[in-house]
Amino acid sequence: MHLSDKYIEQKGRFTVALSGGSTPGVLYQKLASEPHRNRIRWHSVHIFQVDERFVPRDHEDSNFLALNENLLKNIGIPGVNIHPVPVSKKTAPDAAREYEQIIRDFFLLPEGTFPVFDLILLGIGEDGHTASLFPDSDLLNDQHHIAAAATDKQHTHARITLSLPVLQHAENIAFLVSGREKAAVMQKVIQERNHSIPASLIKTANNTPILFIDEEAAQFLHKNV
Ligand code: 6PG
Repeated sequence: MHLSDKYIEQKGRFTVALSGGSTPGVLYQKLASEPHRNRIRWHSVHIFQVDERFVPRDHEDSNFLALNENLLKNIGIPGVNIHPVPVSKKTAPDAAREYEQIIRDFFLLPEGTFPVFDLILLGIGEDGHTASLFPDSDLLNDQHHIAAAATDKQHTHARITLSLPVLQHAENIAFLVSGREKAAVMQKVIQERNHSIPASLIKTANNTPILFIDEEAAQFLHKNV
């Protein structure tokens, strides 16, 4: 049974936050093709973004553009079930505040509480970042916000990201990691827990994160991990 079926049976809906970057593109294309496309009850699925670059939605670096091309436009999901980061705001902090309100309103959240997504799909950068939570960022100490603006010297665009507490409150976390260039960081993520490797901080109270990793990215991991 798809994870989505479990939550739709339980709650009548499945809430998922999806990451950008290149790795998940193949997964999104698979979900948009048979047999998955018609097996997932998209009308009961609500899709949010884990993070977004602060660029127009038709910009080549837009995570939403890629998500729409690879998945959204091919699955007949109702428009009201798609909850993208509002990048049309004047500044990235404005967009983060608006996105936080969108999430608060959807989950009917009392002040000071965090949404519990049924699933959050994450990637991991070579520097250990996940979502747009970069190493040694002040955001790693932010225990108040649901969404925040992020910048990083290695990346051109300002970004909007779900916060660390939101990732840690998720019912289920899945990491999707591929390629030999991730092997070194994966060894650190699995064996260390510190702010210089944000991905290693994602421990949810509910479930241990699920790691989907290919052989190249796992080549330095001991088999007994
Ligand atoms: C983004 C992603 C980011 C990504 C990692 C890994 O907006 O770029 O959300 O956190 O998951 O950078 O990216 P790749 O999958 O492209 O290696």
